[in-house]
Amino acid sequence: MTVPFLVDCDTGIDDAIALSYLAAHPQAEIAGIVSTGGNVAVTAVHRNNLVLAELLGVDAPIARGADRPLVQEPMFADDTHGPGGLGHAVLPESAHPGDPRTGAQLWVDLARARPGELVGLVLGPHTNLALALEIEPELPHLLRRLHFMGGAINHRGNTGPTSEWNIAVDPEAAQRVLSAFTGAAQRPVMGSLEATETVRFTQDTLDRVTELATDGGHPIARILVEALRFYFEFHQADGFGWMAHVHDPLVTAHAVTGDFASTRPLAVDVELAGTLTRGQTVGDELGRWGRAPNLEVLTEVRPDEFVEHLLETLRAGLGRLSDPAWSPRP
Ligand code: BDR
Ligand code: CA
Repeated sequence: MTVPFLVDCDTGIDDAIALSYLAAHPQAEIAGIVSTGGNVAVTAVHRNNLVLAELLGVDAPIARGADRPLVQEPMFADDTHGPGGLGHAVLPESAHPGDPRTGAQLWVDLARARPGELVGLVLGPHTNLALALEIEPELPHLLRRLHFMGGAINHRGNTGPTSEWNIAVDPEAAQRVLSAFTGAAQRPVMGSLEATETVRFTQDTLDRVTELATDGGHPIARILVEALRFYFEFHQADGFGWMAHVHDPLVTAHAVTGDFASTRPLAVDVELAGTLTRGQTVGDELGRWGRAPNLEVLTEVRPDEFVEHLLETLRAGLGRLSDPAWSPRP
């Protein structure tokens, strides 16, 4: 049985790997994609999603999200992901028409169409999910579960000193989503930096992705190689050495398989007012707020097992997608 996912992402190099993984995984169905501005502006994110979906044979609605965060000015990470969001990759033109609905409306329509079935997967800022909650406050009860990459608990930030990118881009949206999902049947799963930064792609990982691109490999593999090369260059320039932290695929693989990490319950909120710490995710480890845990936080990651699983899923799945006899899922 496959699990239907609505993926809300700001593609983005690691988002692209996560989408490829989902398309390649036999137990996952991409039921819809929402393009959210973040790593690059929403127009570029949407183009990336349309091209990737077409190459991956994803037959699902792809909706463009809002132009800007709920309150603050937009910010972009083209130093991290390249001017178009996919590093050095040069994308083909896409004939994919996209979906005319807003990103928020797509969240609502898909959740209403498959109550209790659809899994929400947020790999970028929460802007469009927050807007969807204005249309349908019952979303937390319509979704089977929400998983998201974002935040940092007892760990430095990667955007501000204490803030992680996906939360820092739109802290009000993240705060509204966490508040709305408090009391959901299943607590949302947060994959924050202390978990995702255990995943380090090395030159060996890059070589293995390059192998997928050689000798008639799937065109998506060449895009991932060129994107990753840029990601490595960014991390090296940022002082991390020749490697890359690849965040979104771990959260995605855990959402599909329940594997590669444990979770622990924690009460978490988003700092909106801090003059130095706006956008920080604050975890109440000692229960000082007296609130019940509202999230499950990824912990005890097994990064080596995960990277093997990711590469093997891509190898098998992209091979299947390259087979001329294969056609997209209905
Ligand atoms: C997150 O920010 C983005 O740059 C990545 O795609 C990931 O979702 C990591 O902080
Ligand atoms: Ca992302």
